[in-house]
Amino acid sequence: DPIMHCLMRNNTKHLLNWSKHLSRQCTSKAIISEPKEKLLYNDMLQRRQQQATRSIVVQVQSEKSFPELYNYCASFGKILSAHHYRIHQDDDQHYILLEFGSAEEASAAISSSAYNDELSGVPAHSPFLWFRATSSKRTLKAADQTTEAKLAVIGGTTMLDNNDLNDVLCEASNLDQQIFHLHQKTQLNDLGVRLRFLAALQVKQAVSGIFPNANAQPFGSSVNGFGRMGCDLDLILRFDREIVGAAAMQKRNNESRLVFHTKENLTNGRSQTQRQMESLGDMLHLFLPGVCHVRRILQARVPIIKYHHEHLNLEVDLSMSNLTGFYMSELLYMFGEFDERVRPLTFCIRRWAQTCGLTNPSPGRWISNFSLTCLVIFFLQQMKQPILPTINALMKSASPDDIRLTEDGINCSFGRDFERISFRSRNTAKSSELLLQFFEFYSQFDFHNRAISLNEGRSISKPDHSALYIVNPLEQVLNVSKNVSLEECERLRIEVRNAAWVLESEVENPSQPDNGTQSPWGILHLFKTNEKAVIRPHMFFKPRMVEVSDLFDDSTTDTPPTSVDYKNANV
Ligand code: CTP
Ligand code: MG
Repeated sequence: DPIMHCLMRNNTKHLLNWSKHLSRQCTSKAIISEPKEKLLYNDMLQRRQQQATRSIVVQVQSEKSFPELYNYCASFGKILSAHHYRIHQDDDQHYILLEFGSAEEASAAISSSAYNDELSGVPAHSPFLWFRATSSKRTLKAADQTTEAKLAVIGGTTMLDNNDLNDVLCEASNLDQQIFHLHQKTQLNDLGVRLRFLAALQVKQAVSGIFPNANAQPFGSSVNGFGRMGCDLDLILRFDREIVGAAAMQKRNNESRLVFHTKENLTNGRSQTQRQMESLGDMLHLFLPGVCHVRRILQARVPIIKYHHEHLNLEVDLSMSNLTGFYMSELLYMFGEFDERVRPLTFCIRRWAQTCGLTNPSPGRWISNFSLTCLVIFFLQQMKQPILPTINALMKSASPDDIRLTEDGINCSFGRDFERISFRSRNTAKSSELLLQFFEFYSQFDFHNRAISLNEGRSISKPDHSALYIVNPLEQVLNVSKNVSLEECERLRIEVRNAAWVLESEVENPSQPDNGTQSPWGILHLFKTNEKAVIRPHMFFKPRMVEVSDLFDDSTTDTPPTSVDYKNANV
């Protein structure tokens, strides 16, 4: 009616205002209510692993080499998709990931590849290749340089810079749309996930001669849906065959009369793992194409090997004994799938924490992204109308198929099938409202006396004097945020109060200001580094670097592998 009225009276200004208002209403509804198919974690992992076996990564001169590469590789099989990326935005290292129709076709392309006679390197086999210019003997036909096929993306790993992101957020029409766009524009994309699974496949293939059953599985933010573009890859090398073929292996172990001769473990489990990882580190360093800058952090609670992959521009943390971390990622994945507000909300809170300096890319005495995510999940569990179930509820809904025990006997059994878990949330709050409530909740939280339990979905009394206590959901004697100092916890309290104060007026006026300016509004006010707003304790003292002694194993500590100063830790 109002629109008809404007049309009849030819009132364009009014008409524009009305259409803007309607489009805001539609977008915010669509953002909140669009249901999405929930994929089981193991199905997702398996799909991605299979996709990696069908893929190769080829270094090329530029994206213009695509038609030539496509025509050359089409002789090995059907090419399903092609994705271009650069290592750095302004350099000339270009790569194309090609996905074939089957693993056999990708293997055919790899097997037919040549070794470079001019270099004296070890002739290692891997999915990382380069496309050389045609030799003078093979002249290119014009047809070789054209194709109907298209690259799915060009520059597919390039991140949006801060200014462009701010522009996108400025142009959103309401707060919820800002939160939604922030998530959409900064989350790890499809190509990022593909490349991480190729890094995993390379490790698996490298050890497959001696350990045909070993599996290198990504976990952490690369797969739990909370990863940002450019996030590190956490990788676990598993020998237990839990996911594929466990039952068949058990049957064989019980029935076969031929038994493998194996090496006996001479020392205790932990030092054996450390020695094995040391050799693994050497092997990766000496033989695997693309792997460089290998560091061994073997004294930390979870021994890891860190390395950089130069063809993927990726930092990798490889472990062999962190199954609870792996299952924790599955829990986080499930929490993200339960409700579509969870991930956008977490992204917004992580960005706020990053811009006000609560988190830091180098690990130390400040809160980690993982702990911050736990705070968000706990907040969503403890509401009057909870948005997420407790972990105890998930554990209760475990079926016999969900039973998982780690090698140390830790119980990681919880319901994994969304259909079977009876939890449904009736909470229909908008993301922007939840954001404000999050800050208000932690403004009031008694960090001094209470610990956060995701298992129970309520706070419990603090088991020790750690500044911030988040019970590790799968190893409940440990504290996820043991690394956080008193000063950092105090800063967290100050910053959540500031954020609640800033956001309150934005939630009252949740739409883009109508003055048509491009000045920051809404959640952008949370991301301003406002030096005058608070006198932060950290301005007066430098946080102490984590010392090497902090890294040594102590069964009562839960210093995550990334919560150490790796430079000090290289012992
Ligand atoms: N993890 C855990 N307990 C800890 C630390 C980590 O169970 N004290 C598990 C979590 O599943 C986490 C994964 O190990 O997701 C990887 O840890 P980390 O790399 O620190 O966190 P991410 O979630 O990967 O986040 P980021 O993007 O900051 O790397
Ligand atoms: Mg990580």
